[in-house]
Amino acid sequence: MEGKELVYIIGFMGSGKSTAGRKLAASLGWNFIDLDRKIEERAGKTIPQIFSQEGEAHFRMIETEVLKNTRPLSETIISTGGGTPCHGNNMDFMLATGLTVYLKMTPEQLANRLLESSGERPLIKNIPDDQLHDFIEKKLASREKWYRRAKVIIEGINLDISNLTLIIRSNQAD
Ligand code: S3P
Repeated sequence: MEGKELVYIIGFMGSGKSTAGRKLAASLGWNFIDLDRKIEERAGKTIPQIFSQEGEAHFRMIETEVLKNTRPLSETIISTGGGTPCHGNNMDFMLATGLTVYLKMTPEQLANRLLESSGERPLIKNIPDDQLHDFIEKKLASREKWYRRAKVIIEGINLDISNLTLIIRSNQAD
């Protein structure tokens, strides 16, 4: 299959995509790209600035453009943003060009993790702490139809990087 040397890490905000992607790249000796950072480089602004100055629709446009035009070297792990697979035909694009890995977490696990960092994330910064769990539950339910299309679905909590490394190697050998 084409594109096996690219791996896309997908999943909800706070599921540890960037950390896992970086560790996985180190473990495989591959390159690493964080799509959110590429978007910030391309826009010359931070993600909160893009959302507040230009709005979410504009952010989604840049996100899709950066995803499709990044042209990564072969052997690259790309950590995406939580909404990347759910807009445009980005999930189709990722399925066609690489191996998709969904880091799955429950709303409870996500809420616990996001309570620490909600202020930095435009989609949740105005949500009171006591409503965060419900928001995540609803948003995750609406996004899971994309996330579940990933070729590999793995529990994000206590993620075993050496196990994931083996899974990726065995998918390359297919
Ligand atoms: C978003 C998730 C963020 C970032 C943006 C929108 C989302 O990335 O792309 O704030 O729609 O879920 P992380 O998943 O890395 O937080």
